[in-house]
Amino acid sequence: MSVTASKRFTDPAPQEYELHNHELARRAARDGIVLLKNEDHTLPLAAGCRVALYGMGALHTVKGGTGSGDVNVRATVNICDGMRTAGFTIANEDYLKECEEIYQAKRSEWRDLVWKRFDNKEYPYFFAAYVNTPFMTPACPEIAPCDCDAVFYVISRNAGEGADRTLEKGDYLLSEAEHSDISRLCSLYPSVTLVINSGGIIDLSILDEYPQIKAVLLLSQAGIESGNAFADIVSGRSCPCGKLTDSWPIAVDDHLCMQPKNRECVDNREVYYHEGIYVGYRYFDTFGVPVRYSFGHGLSYTDFSIKTTGIHVSYEPAACVDITLSVFNTGTQYSGREVVQIYATCPLGGLHKENRRLVGFAKTAVIAPRETQELTVSIPFDRFVSYDKCCQVLSMGKYYLWAGNSLSNAHPIGTLTLDSNITIEENKRLWAKFDGVDTLFPDPGQCTALRMSLERYVLMQQLPTVALDAELVAKHLPAPHAAPAEPDLRKRAADIAGKLSVEQLIRTCVGHWAHVEESQLGSAGVSVPGSAGETTDILIPEGVRPMVLADGPAGLRLKPYYFEKDGTLLTGSVEHCFENGYLAREEFNPGGTRCYQYCTAFPIGTLLAQTWDSELLKEVGRAVADEMHVFGVSLWLAPGMNIHRDPLCGRNFEYFSEDPLVSGLAASAITAGVQSVPGCGVTIKHFACNNAEHFRLESNSIVSERALREIYLRGFEIAVKDSQPTAVMTSYNLVNGEHAANSARLCTSILRDEWGFDGLVMTDWGTTGSSRCTPFGCIHAGNDLLMPGCRMECEDLFEALNAGKISHDELVRCAANIIYISLRLVPETEKQAEN
Ligand code: BGC
Repeated sequence: MSVTASKRFTDPAPQEYELHNHELARRAARDGIVLLKNEDHTLPLAAGCRVALYGMGALHTVKGGTGSGDVNVRATVNICDGMRTAGFTIANEDYLKECEEIYQAKRSEWRDLVWKRFDNKEYPYFFAAYVNTPFMTPACPEIAPCDCDAVFYVISRNAGEGADRTLEKGDYLLSEAEHSDISRLCSLYPSVTLVINSGGIIDLSILDEYPQIKAVLLLSQAGIESGNAFADIVSGRSCPCGKLTDSWPIAVDDHLCMQPKNRECVDNREVYYHEGIYVGYRYFDTFGVPVRYSFGHGLSYTDFSIKTTGIHVSYEPAACVDITLSVFNTGTQYSGREVVQIYATCPLGGLHKENRRLVGFAKTAVIAPRETQELTVSIPFDRFVSYDKCCQVLSMGKYYLWAGNSLSNAHPIGTLTLDSNITIEENKRLWAKFDGVDTLFPDPGQCTALRMSLERYVLMQQLPTVALDAELVAKHLPAPHAAPAEPDLRKRAADIAGKLSVEQLIRTCVGHWAHVEESQLGSAGVSVPGSAGETTDILIPEGVRPMVLADGPAGLRLKPYYFEKDGTLLTGSVEHCFENGYLAREEFNPGGTRCYQYCTAFPIGTLLAQTWDSELLKEVGRAVADEMHVFGVSLWLAPGMNIHRDPLCGRNFEYFSEDPLVSGLAASAITAGVQSVPGCGVTIKHFACNNAEHFRLESNSIVSERALREIYLRGFEIAVKDSQPTAVMTSYNLVNGEHAANSARLCTSILRDEWGFDGLVMTDWGTTGSSRCTPFGCIHAGNDLLMPGCRMECEDLFEALNAGKISHDELVRCAANIIYISLRLVPETEKQAEN
């Protein structure tokens, strides 16, 4: 068995890394919580007042989603405990006690049901039974009035891989019980605060019914410190400073994906992205559909005024526009932080385009009342490009710039003028025949009218106009950050791979399935209990150590404990890997020394993005890497960065946003943080277009090349070019009729040839189980590693090689990529092997 560098903690007391990381998780949570509404200064509360907490989530606050995106933790601080610790008196303890009884009963019914479905062979393996039997939060006991100063109602939702959310009551819509609870509260109290403890959007039309709902707080799923972060915000100890990374619609079918005609497609497994580039706010803004809360929205306890002080263009080292702004805290009581967002209306240049797109943003430090902070938002010119046939172009004409603290609050601040078209990049046409998929176009007359009215406004207000030097822009386009140049290691990896036997090559390209005959999804790792998988150990004699891979993205998902007996690690089965081991029917205790692996559940990806704070995300990445280092994990299966196309995608919580820039920069910051720790790498996922979980192995995302390049691939491109992630995980779905894992277009042409990716590409777990994905197709496409690996895949590769479907060189190329990353991430042990 392979041995890793992990530490063994036999003392159950919290370790130093935990204390540090919990503090960071709390800070990240409170900086990403979004205050959506706050009439009559409902929040913050007076110190030490009496609060009534309703809704199951007050006690069972959902810290994060389920499935591989779950993190097993020591304990999560719920809202109730967070409030108690912060010195508030809970006014309805009896109600909460009853809630607890109902919850525990339902929870154990649910566990029995999962097992029943598995035992009855409704599902082939336990994980499938688990993900297809989501736990539904039960209704709460009847509400009786109590003597209190403030009332909160918590609406909790959970979701995870393998199943999408539903457009039903209890999920996207409020359940009948929730609706009647809120209605009752509004009849009893003049002011109610709704707390949304959900990883994704829910319908909020109840706000139109009850003016008594004075405040709405999007707690989201805030990780292990949820309750403490909540208390920090509602007590006013911290001023809210999170901003939405998605638009929240008014009516359910205001969102394109929620319209009945579009939902049918999801069931057909052929999902047409007819809306093209008009995803999220690009749709609402361009087509004039009002939203409840706009992209970028988030209130504070204080107010800020944002003044643009300059627009400067510089050409060296890379062409870039620097916008200087001064942010003034106009309030007198609270210090706080603001997010300055810059949007652009680009010239049409013969294309149809969105009204506005986000091109840059920056978050201030904490600004005291009546104080000002000056800041600069630097925007490289590739943020303004559009995809036209085979080129990324900067169209000639006027670029109108907007600044504000949300899309809906942004105002024009000036223009940039370009007097000729610039081709930023010429690309191969990879999906030319899918151009016709786009069927949604804005009215060209309206697009022109918007730009004309902007021109009038700019003239009237005498806003600055900066003329760009097209030649200089073209000459100094931003260059991707080069991959770590390690030519010696590359050469060494190629030499090792070149000398391997066919069997060794194949075993290298397939995860370490030999540990267990049938690898269980999400728990195939053995040397680090609960990790998701490992690469082969057969190359140890060549100095190539196996890598341990563990999920993500809200922290490290490991088993919280295992036993060590006579030098062997003993761990419970797959059910111990999720929900803090709750699903296990009995405690696992084979004797020996009990060892602990408590990890930190950071807030979910969406909440992290809602901080709009790249430095903070770097810190989170770094903290995860510290845990990876402690436990001996080389590759983290995160961050997840698919676009929130459909609010019902079951994995949206793992992803960042409906916007590719927010997604790309968030992934890039986290990557930089993780990879600042030697021996630790990320795996950005799921490449690409994983926007639904139904039929996830067979679902075919049919997308135009323009939408792919401007929206769905764009975030990945930013992450790859900015921070060179070590690995990429392909998605379960197909893209334009070709399985992502079998797509040479994605894995090689785009990723390596166009973007200069230098790392390792792996499949998602068990992808070759899809009827439309073959193991040899992966190798052929440049998808180096099949995870978690199984005997069938090895056999398939042998056959394919003999039948000439793949070449020996292709196997060598994939193996060399894997070996190169192993040598980079596990060098110390490699040296040991040499000695
Ligand atoms: C998920 C991946 C995850 C892998 C390993 C799969 O089911 O789709 O995101 O990394 O399992 O747990």
